[in-house]
Amino acid sequence: MYSLLRSVLNRKAPAWGLFVLLLALFWVLPLCAKPAAPPKAAIATAHPLATEAGHRILQAGGNAFDAAVAVSAVLAVVEPYSSGIGGGGFWLLHRQADDFQVMVDGRERAPLAADRNLYLDPQGQVIDGLSINGPLAAGIPGEPAALVHISDKYGRLPLKQVLAEAIEIARNGFPVDEHYRRMAQWRLKPLQSDPAASAQFLVNGEIPETGFLLRQPELAETLQRLAEEGHAGFYAGELAEKLVAGVKAAGGIWSLEDLQSYRVLEREPARGSYRGMQIISAAPPSSGGVVLLSMLNILSQFDLEAVPDLTRRHLIIEAMRRAYRDRASYLGDPDFVEMPIERLIHPFYAAGLARDISLEWATPSSSEAPERREGNDTTHFSIIDREGNRVAATLSVNYPFGACFVPPGTGVLLNDEMDDFSAQPGVPNVYGLVGGEANAIEPGKRMLSSMTPTFVETRDGVAVLGTPGGSRIITMLLHGILSLERGEGPEAWVSVPRFHHQYLPDLVQFEPGAFSEQQQAGLATMGHQLKPLSSTFGNMQGVFWNRESGEVSAASDSRGIGSAVVQ
Ligand code: DON
Repeated sequence: MYSLLRSVLNRKAPAWGLFVLLLALFWVLPLCAKPAAPPKAAIATAHPLATEAGHRILQAGGNAFDAAVAVSAVLAVVEPYSSGIGGGGFWLLHRQADDFQVMVDGRERAPLAADRNLYLDPQGQVIDGLSINGPLAAGIPGEPAALVHISDKYGRLPLKQVLAEAIEIARNGFPVDEHYRRMAQWRLKPLQSDPAASAQFLVNGEIPETGFLLRQPELAETLQRLAEEGHAGFYAGELAEKLVAGVKAAGGIWSLEDLQSYRVLEREPARGSYRGMQIISAAPPSSGGVVLLSMLNILSQFDLEAVPDLTRRHLIIEAMRRAYRDRASYLGDPDFVEMPIERLIHPFYAAGLARDISLEWATPSSSEAPERREGNDTTHFSIIDREGNRVAATLSVNYPFGACFVPPGTGVLLNDEMDDFSAQPGVPNVYGLVGGEANAIEPGKRMLSSMTPTFVETRDGVAVLGTPGGSRIITMLLHGILSLERGEGPEAWVSVPRFHHQYLPDLVQFEPGAFSEQQQAGLATMGHQLKPLSSTFGNMQGVFWNRESGEVSAASDSRGIGSAVVQ
């Protein structure tokens, strides 16, 4: 091509040369270049009402960022057990026009009056439940700030229009489903013990029947205020005063300054590669991207296709074990702690970690930690619009229904994200995760998360994926990406049977059907301690745009009640 161009410029080429050049420019080149935008948009979320809201916003001329704000707000209303404006999250954005990618960090912060001993008794023992139920468990919410920020900076439609559907659903109600009932059952006692939470989520103190229209008029008012006044509508003025008064009256430690000083932060995503795929994922204060890249780097030291299936599974478990060990040792809020991130995600470092993996034996984790009950809440959604903009967002109030506490008159269900701090070095949190100094409580600090909204750019396409699932989030992403690498689509990523290891407790937890009897026996012989789970976990939402074929596909995990549309 270059010599042809030169000869044309030199005016020495015969006429056919010029013809071929023009043909190349106008016909062949456009065919070779990857299309800049998909022919269709796609949305996958954990609730059909949220998927529909996002769909309508795209139809109304909004972009993926508008749709993300609308979806987040509707999820805040219809999945109060998973996320909400009393919580926070991470929104990973890709703007196609200038190839700009950023992680919007709307993670909760510790109140300024918090200190490392917040949940300890005078003997220095962790007081059970204090970081889970009630206002002392709540970090300063980040979701309202993030929604306003994303809408103002990246959206196209007015915030009022984007929030309208969530406000309408809060005011007029949504039908309670079986999933709502299960989650409420799990958290019934603490919900019953707070009058405002009980009034908002229960009926006469009991779980509403399936089909009951659950109205949240105070939440509608608060969302309306956010729509009209933006950031200050939540973090200052009357609402802020009500939030702080309600928290304080019930024994919490929030102040107006906590709310007034809350800021969303834009962070450079964690980036790496695995077998020709580019991984763009959550950066600290999420551990997600770092742990995910570390596992992938370790696995890239092996030829997973060439080893027997059992060895392949064993290697995946050993990669999980090592990456989670580093999570516990090093990771926390980057504004408070120095972290060797570059080293942790460097292939050379992974090569070192891989060196002591035996192909035959499990490496024991150095000590045991007691096991805790795993949550099944939090939420994720994935969006790609027709311009190629994309959003992967994982949002949370932590445990189902968060802290089960609503400051009176606000409709805002508070998170219990403070439990994601390490209350004491080595003492596991509700997900059995241990942490150390890097994740100790400090005033204004963001607690370490596992939420892992992720983009993967493959040779032929673009994937958007993520899931809830507490400590198991990151290993679910690993399974999804390994499925993608095998050439499979979103339906496969979201449904692949899952297993998980998190260093401590030293157990391989697995869903029914994830291992055959024979595989279980094989892994046990290698020294793995297996823990079959009685139920499935996770709720992955995935979208894929195949840039070669032009096909756009999406899938919502059948373990949940969500839905996906390609429009
Ligand atoms: O940020 C985190 O890692 C947790 N708060 C997420 C909680 C979660 O996914 C609960 N779902 N099982």
